[in-house]
Amino acid sequence: MTKYAAPRGTKDILPAESSHWQMIETACRKVFELYNYKEIRTPIFESTELFTRSIGQTTDIVGKEMYEFKDRKGRSLCLRPEATAPVVRACIENNLLSADQTTKLFYIGPMFRYERPQAGRQRQFHQAGVEVFGSNEPRLDAEVIALNLQLLSEIGLKDLEVDINSVGCANCRPAYREKLRDYLKANIKDMCSDCQDRFEKNPLRVLDCKEAKCQKYIENAPASSSMLCVDCSNHFKQMVGWLDGLMVKYKINNRLVRGLDYYTKTTFEIVSNKLGAQNAVSGGGRYDGLVEELGGKPTPAVGFAVGLERIIGLLSNYELRITSESKTQLYIATIGDEATIVGFEMMQKARSHGISADMDYLGKSLKSQMKAADRAGAKFVYIIGDEEIKKQSAVLKNMQTSSQEEVAFDLLLEKAK
Ligand code: HAM
Repeated sequence: MTKYAAPRGTKDILPAESSHWQMIETACRKVFELYNYKEIRTPIFESTELFTRSIGQTTDIVGKEMYEFKDRKGRSLCLRPEATAPVVRACIENNLLSADQTTKLFYIGPMFRYERPQAGRQRQFHQAGVEVFGSNEPRLDAEVIALNLQLLSEIGLKDLEVDINSVGCANCRPAYREKLRDYLKANIKDMCSDCQDRFEKNPLRVLDCKEAKCQKYIENAPASSSMLCVDCSNHFKQMVGWLDGLMVKYKINNRLVRGLDYYTKTTFEIVSNKLGAQNAVSGGGRYDGLVEELGGKPTPAVGFAVGLERIIGLLSNYELRITSESKTQLYIATIGDEATIVGFEMMQKARSHGISADMDYLGKSLKSQMKAADRAGAKFVYIIGDEEIKKQSAVLKNMQTSSQEEVAFDLLLEKAK
């Protein structure tokens, strides 16, 4: 018989791990709501053009990582590789943006990129992120970075580094691109084939290359910060001032161009030296041109996304013990058919009163039922047999202290609560 396995680059999140995921998702919601963000959920697939327009034709994501397919009517669709463009699309389509207020949105969900799987890199992975629309204030960029850090520290991550840069805007970037191309020209034939391709199509992408043989050239490349127009330069200085005010430690990293083309001005990443090659826990920045590019009114925006698998990776690195407290409060053990009927009703009643409860479905002996209750981490076991039904009362065993007491059927729920 054929054996099936999860597709390459995907992972099952098994019950033993799901408490980590729930803890992280709860922390995300808590911190996002502290900053007044509201949740948005967009479809898992979108029209392919949404991503080619926004992320950029020459990026790795659009060039070789999209899960693209045709539907039965021949329309080109694609599993979302990220959520910023879908959120922008949803905002325009549903009129969520207005000129006189900011719109703050967050999301949590799976993304899909056909990458070469390795530690911290999957083909289906999960992001939690925020997008805020309507203000070009550098204070907001700093706030978004502070929010990102607060989220990661709420989860318990330590030793993180914030890298920041400015990639300029449509006014100053063309001149920078030319300067970079001039600089690379002399050595491009010694660089990797990807870089040679990027040199032709989008030289800024060269700065993103991780190949060892390209590093020496990249290290000495001119910095985008040296070519910023007055507006972008002031924006960056002010943003840094706000970060200082918030006591956020950061490193200015002139190579930080990010793997998506929609960024303008601020870009940032939060990295950990405990993650190996895939060291970015999160990334984001400002994208003042994207709403207009996708058909909306010109609207400045800034946001970030954290990679949840990378957070999980770091949590196990730090060996943080996340208590996976059992939620089973009451286990009903029964002896005989009649007791099973009574016990089943009792269990359902407990559940309808908000008490989590469970029982045996395999006809096990009392001893095995007690073992199963223990394995389930049940706080109490109520033991019912024919005798107990006659007297409408049974023993309630506290599994933590091993103490027992006789509790009448009609007082059980009150006692268990
Ligand atoms: P990104 O840098 O492509 O940005 O992804 C953000 C984070 O998602 C990364 O820092 C990483 O933690 C995680 N990530 C990315 N690819 C993978 C993968 N293959 N496997 C595991 N984790 C991965 C964005 O997606 C932008 N939309 C962020 C943004 C929001 N910018 C503005 N607003």
